This record gives sequence, structure tokens and C-alpha cells, in this order.
Amino acid sequence: MPGTFRVGLLGHGTVGSAFATLLEQRAEAIVPVTGLRPELSGVLTRSRGDFEEILSGADLIVEVIGGVEPARDYVLRAMRAGKHVVSANKQLLSQHGEELWACARENAVQLRFEAAVAGVVPVIRVLQESLAAAHVERIHGIVNGTTNYILSEMARSGMSYADALRQAQDLGYAESDPTDDVTGRDAAAKMAILARLAFDTPVHLDQVRYEGIEHITADDIAYAQQFGLGLKLIGTAERVGDGLSVHVHPAFLYGGHPLASVNGPFNAVTVESDAITEITMSGPGAGGPQTASAILGDVISAMIPPATTPETSQALPIVADVQSAFYLHMEVADRPGVLAQVAELLGMQGASIKSVVQQGLGHDARLVMILHPLAESRFYAAVHLIGQLDFMRSSPRAIRVIEEEFV
Ligand SMILES: NC(=O)c1ccc[n+]([C@@H]2O[C@H](COP(=O)([O-])OP(=O)(O)OC[C@H]3O[C@@H](n4cnc5c(N)ncnc54)[C@H](OP(=O)(O)O)[C@@H]3O)[C@@H](O)[C@H]2O)c1
Repeated sequence: MPGTFRVGLLGHGTVGSAFATLLEQRAEAIVPVTGLRPELSGVLTRSRGDFEEILSGADLIVEVIGGVEPARDYVLRAMRAGKHVVSANKQLLSQHGEELWACARENAVQLRFEAAVAGVVPVIRVLQESLAAAHVERIHGIVNGTTNYILSEMARSGMSYADALRQAQDLGYAESDPTDDVTGRDAAAKMAILARLAFDTPVHLDQVRYEGIEHITADDIAYAQQFGLGLKLIGTAERVGDGLSVHVHPAFLYGGHPLASVNGPFNAVTVESDAITEITMSGPGAGGPQTASAILGDVISAMIPPATTPETSQALPIVADVQSAFYLHMEVADRPGVLAQVAELLGMQGASIKSVVQQGLGHDARLVMILHPLAESRFYAAVHLIGQLDFMRSSPRAIRVIEEEFV
């Protein structure tokens, strides 16, 4: 008879209930792999269960409550009691990761968190294990399925942001309060976790600059399609000189980029390094059964060999001003000299124009251009000055462009 491995479950919502079902379904199949049969030994919700009792009767705790407190307190107490922990909580790890990983090391227990980033896509495991020896240069990620679905629908049908959001909510891809998703904060938390692992340096959510998709118009997406560009909400973590830049922004991609074809509520992460060129992993980024599958994978790993998240060995400075190419959209009066004045202001900041499209709109005109890479601060200085020109009909709109293609 195999022994049992007792799993205490904190949270029984979308993910917790799917995990409980999956654990029961897969328990027998896990026995030959681990020599132990996992079983649910207790469940905590707001209205049921007692944490101390669940803790004392468990070998491992699964935390799927979400948010910072009381999840942080429970996870710390579990590890101090010598229990392994599996968590799907990106907000907790992106804000208190160093404290939690230190606690895991001190107590010689495992803290696993595959489901916290990109759902079932095994990106944490790949960074921690398979690519542990690679000198990662850059990570790009579509790590929020809600916003990827909204942008995909806007591109496909030309619908407005508001209509695409409503459709995402009707289909269950967006919460009734979608703020964390559409502002980029959810993606920022995931990028903080990825950056910490890939670059071996502490990264807190507060150090990640983020911008959401609420201001994106179907117009911008349609114009950029003429340049062969598609829009995504992209998280980037990259080496800049001796430092690290981590940010989340809407960005245009050319068709050859591995993330360009990732549509709908899917997630994908691209890791670039000299040694490996580029690896892309993609798959469902959320959903109860999908997330539960990632959690159960972590539980099985915790049942086998010891693994900890090592202490970071350096503290890279976080760099804010990085180089980027840009898409610039302007509504202007249709009169001579307009393009020349815009080009002059851009030129003064060192910006050079890669391509431009001009379209007449009666007495006005629409000027859309793609700029070669330059420092963001210089680009926005130029945009500020352009916005003050008397022929501008509305504020210029700018979106980053990622130029790399891997074809
Ligand atoms: N949903 C997804 O697709 C997905 C994907 C990846 C990661 N995640 C992460 O997984 C975690 C859980 O997400 P979810 O969608 O399953 O959330 P959810 O449906 O809202 O469920 C949360 C569960 O936690 C319980 N809970 C909340 N506050 C509690 C407290 N103070 N004490 C005890 N129990 C408490 C709730 O209890 P009641 O039942 O009493 O309300 C509920 O059972 C989050 O960290 C989330 O970011 C979710």
C-alpha cells in the first residue's frame, strides 16, 4: 500500500474547486510517479475550515485565495511549520517574493508557483531549470489573456475597446471589474516574477512601469495593419547596459515576431539569449482546470526532489529610460509645411522616420508614421512639442513598436 501525501487547500473558488476535482481524478496515476497517493486533507474558505487544523494535518499547502493578506500570513506560517507550499498568487509573489523565498530557504521547504504566471504554460520551470545556465538577454510576454482577447477582437472585427471588453466579460474572459487586467497591473506582477527568475535580481511590482489598453482605438490598429503591424499588450524584461528594465506597454509587432500570431485569450512568453537564440512557449493563460493542472504539476514536483528558489546573487539597477521604435498617429490641418515641422521636431530629438502614411480628411489630414528606435524620453519630449503645434487637431497618439522578427 502506498503512503498518503496530504494536501491542505486554501481557497475553493474557480481554481481551488478545479484543483480539488483534478487531484481526485489523478491521484491513482500519481502513485507510480511518486510512490505516494496525494489526497485532500482539508479546505479553507471564508466560511469553512480552520487554518491551524488544516496546517497540522497537511504535508503541503496549496494557496489559491489570491490577494496579499491573509494569503501572505498563511503561506509564511505554513513554511515555518515545515510544509511545502504551492501558490498561484502573482500579486503576493510580485510584492513579497523575496520574503517568501527567504522563508522557504530558511525552513528547507519548497515554494512553487508555476500557475502564478501564464497559467499552464510551464515558463517558471523552464526559467528555473531548463534555462538556468542561459544568460537571458530579454523576455517578451503576452501574459494577460483578457487584454490579448480584447485586442485580437478589435483587430479582427474593428469593434471598439468598450464593445470588445463587454464581449470578453460575456464570455467569461474578463472579470466584472477588469481594472487589474486592462491597466496592465496584472501583467506587471507577472513580469516582475519572470524578471526576478530570469535575471537573478530582486524585482518588486513597484519597479515595473506599466500602461494598459484602455486608450487604444480600433483606428490605431487598422492603420498599423497597413504597415504589417499587429497590436499586443507586451511585457518586457531586458538587460540595458549594466541594469534591467521591466515594463508593460501596448506594442506593435511585425508579423515575423513569435508573439504576433498569439491571438485570443492565450498567453505566450519568448526568452532570448545568445546561446539559445529564442524560445517561445504558449498556451492557455487562465481558467480553472488549466490553472489547476499547473498547480498539480507543482504538487507532484514537491512530492519528489527538493528544490528551492536560490537567493539572488546580485542587485541590478532598474533602468527606466530605454530605446524603442514608435508608431505616431497625428490629426493635423492639411496645409503645406506640416510634415516638415513635425519631422524637424522629431529630428531635434534624434528621431528618424522609417515610414509614413498621409491621408486627407477634408481640410484636415491624418499623418501616421513609424519611427526608428530612440530613447523613450527623447521621443516623448518631441511628442510634447508636436502636441503644441497650432495645426494639431488633437493630441498625438504614440504606441511602441517591437522591431525584432525571427524568420
Ligand atoms: N481564475 C484563474 O483563471 C486564475 C489563473 C491563474 C492564477 N489564478 C490565481 O489563483 C488564485 C485564486 O483565483 P480564483 O479565480 O480561484 O479566485 P476565486 O474564485 O475568487 O476564489 C477565491 C477563494 O479563496 C477564498 N478566500 C478569499 N478570501 C479568503 C480568506 N480571507 N480566508 C479564507 N478563504 C478566502 C474564497 O472563499 P469563499 O468561497 O468563501 O468566497 C474562495 O474560495 C488567485 O491568486 C489568482 O490570481 C487564477
